[in-house]
Amino acid sequence: MNQEKEQQEHRRADFASKKGEVVLRKHEYDGIQEFDQKLPNWWLLTFYGAIVFYLIYWFVYYQAGLIKTDQQAVTEIMAEIQEKRADALEKTLDSLSDKILVHEWATDASIVAEGEALYMKQCFACHGPNLDAPNKLGLSLVDGEWKYGDKPKEIFKLINEGSPADSKGMAPTGAKMVPWGGTYSPKQIAQLVAFIISKNPKDFAKF
Ligand code: HEC
Repeated sequence: MNQEKEQQEHRRADFASKKGEVVLRKHEYDGIQEFDQKLPNWWLLTFYGAIVFYLIYWFVYYQAGLIKTDQQAVTEIMAEIQEKRADALEKTLDSLSDKILVHEWATDASIVAEGEALYMKQCFACHGPNLDAPNKLGLSLVDGEWKYGDKPKEIFKLINEGSPADSKGMAPTGAKMVPWGGTYSPKQIAQLVAFIISKNPKDFAKF
């Protein structure tokens, strides 16, 4: 019975809309009634247009790969930067030896001054202005002890890569030092090493 009524209603609506009349649906909630009309073409155009746009976008970016997504572009640029960094690191390490660091870099006042300027920017907060780590946030760099090796290149490696971490990213004992390779270029790290050596002439005389 109800179904029949509904069908009648539909026929009525069809008829009315053909005559250009506004059709209201029969139900009403809290005084709110609903139109029963075809959506305007401009609206349908934006709706179907959005679907078509989505299909083209999806195909071009994600299926055919005709245009790089921002993410792909960034990943490529990052890979390039990484490669350049690795090249620079290799060149710097090849050109440096423990001997050169101790007897040429650490004795060159301008290199040491550059290293000191970098140290005062990023390192002194934990290692102290006099390198003796008074606040214990870092290790003393003037106590004659070198936890991860006393060779200048080992110190270079430590500053570049940070102290070794366990599987949870923590240092095996106490605090870990973060890697500075992303902040400083290999040359700058060598300058930092030269500065540290210059403050420990006795430790490094043997090289
Ligand atoms: C947030 C604090 C912090 C900052 C900033 C910091 N370090 Fe460290 N550093 C540490 C900690 C902690 C250790 C000890 C790590 C360990 O035991 O694994 C350490 C260890 C070291 C060591 C090894 C010392 C030794 O006795 O073996 C060197 C060298 C060093 N840092 C150099 C630097 C340089 C150069 C900078 C600046 C570019 C720097 N640190 C910035 C916290 C810091």
